[in-house]
Amino acid sequence: MALYSETVMDHFRHPRNVGVLPDANGVGEVGNAKCGDIMKIYLKIQDDTIEDVKFETFGCGSAIASSSMATELIKGKPLQEALQLTNQAVAQALEGLPPHKMHCSVLAEEAIKSAIQDYYERQGIAYDRSQFPDCASCDHGCCHTGEQD
Ligand code: FES
Repeated sequence: MALYSETVMDHFRHPRNVGVLPDANGVGEVGNAKCGDIMKIYLKIQDDTIEDVKFETFGCGSAIASSSMATELIKGKPLQEALQLTNQAVAQALEGLPPHKMHCSVLAEEAIKSAIQDYYERQGIAYDRSQFPDCASCDHGCCHTGEQD
């Protein structure tokens, strides 16, 4: 059996929503401390809905495929729905990732959450902090790159 599904290969070769959103009102950037890969998500949010999303990923093929699929899954969706997106759902939509590549899908979940948190912070909107990763007790191996030394 091939290591990567056809869907992973398709999203790696033809990633959707690549680029920068100049008028983004929520931006999230996370990195994996172990592999050094970085993912940045730009959100344009209007009326609690993700009107547009773009990403820049400096990383492995699985991270690029995960970013591409994750952006497709949240585009046009209400914020609360996007917040529920898990890395498992991203991997499932990609028809699976090899076990040692599951951490790449974690970057996508974390980057989206980080961008939504940024939006709430910028707008001064009160939010439930428990819906967002707690860096102090996080065991995902990721880190918010802006908070690195
Ligand atoms: Fe670093 Fe995939 S190996 S995110």
